[in-house]
Amino acid sequence: MSTPADAALTAPTQFRTELRADVTRGLSASPKQLPPRWLYDALGSDLFLKITELPEYYPTRSERAILTQRAAAIADITGARTLIELGSGSSDKTRLLLNALEERHNQITYAPVDISASAMKQAVAALSADYPDLTMTPLVADFTTSLTLPPLPGPRLLAFLGGTFGNLLPDERAVFLRSTRSRLAPGDRILLGVDLVKDPDRLRAAYDDAAGVTAAFNLNVLTMLNRELRADFDPDAFEHVAVWDPHHEWIEMRLRSRREQTVTLDDLGLHVSFASGEYLRTEISSKFRPRRLASELSAAGLHVTNWWTDPDGLYGLALVARDDDLTPPR
Ligand code: TRP
Repeated sequence: MSTPADAALTAPTQFRTELRADVTRGLSASPKQLPPRWLYDALGSDLFLKITELPEYYPTRSERAILTQRAAAIADITGARTLIELGSGSSDKTRLLLNALEERHNQITYAPVDISASAMKQAVAALSADYPDLTMTPLVADFTTSLTLPPLPGPRLLAFLGGTFGNLLPDERAVFLRSTRSRLAPGDRILLGVDLVKDPDRLRAAYDDAAGVTAAFNLNVLTMLNRELRADFDPDAFEHVAVWDPHHEWIEMRLRSRREQTVTLDDLGLHVSFASGEYLRTEISSKFRPRRLASELSAAGLHVTNWWTDPDGLYGLALVARDDDLTPPR
């Protein structure tokens, strides 16, 4: 899920409370906005998986290329016994890391964290079939609000892949990095995947594909609101828009109201009017330059120990340590 409806592994009432608060706040704000976590209900997670296979969507392929080439080095350098993954989704690329870690230690623990219970169920089922010796401690949660790192065997590697770090706003990234840092024990490392600044046309295409999968993914959030909060959004009355913001260096995903309209959310007793052409922001996807990443990390007391890019230089993977962690590299 991301949706209250199929939360099998966690408390649905908490999700519902958070959904109601997020939607009330976001739709009353100006400009209107919603936190990205609500894009990932069961259908949203499936659609996102389809996005990762699109010809225009290079980040997944680029990250996989780096992991294919560097997983062994990552396992050697970190010596990790536990892999914690935030926003684990299908845990597909994770296999490259698990394979490398299992070659070094015969008992590895994998702790995936994801907002989507349906994606988690599928991922855990698939992994337990293929990795009989793997200990798994899945957690369905929003890692931005409830980040406690399980006290699993160290050293622990905290993977944050898929450019998800870039879906946080700069302030949220600062909070996330500081709180994550405070939870790292000596020897623990972060593995951070970030998409890099590049030609805006290439970026826009990745977030507005020809087949319309990203549009369907974005519009699905309205269907989720109709189902979960008894709202009456007409998805046909909105269109998907992906804008490159050169100042912030992020892609902004929006839904644009095609006409003047009023939407009712029965469960919230809320009426929301949209002007024709008015936007609802659903997600940002920040693109990085190595220097900016380094300065964000340094502000949180962290630094990059290893930096890898794919052969085309589209995407970067950083291994990150606490400034005060003097554990020698293996
Ligand atoms: N983490 C992904 C990214 O920033 C999320 C994403 C990809 C996304 N395509 C999207 C989010 C389209 C919303 C809409 O690339």
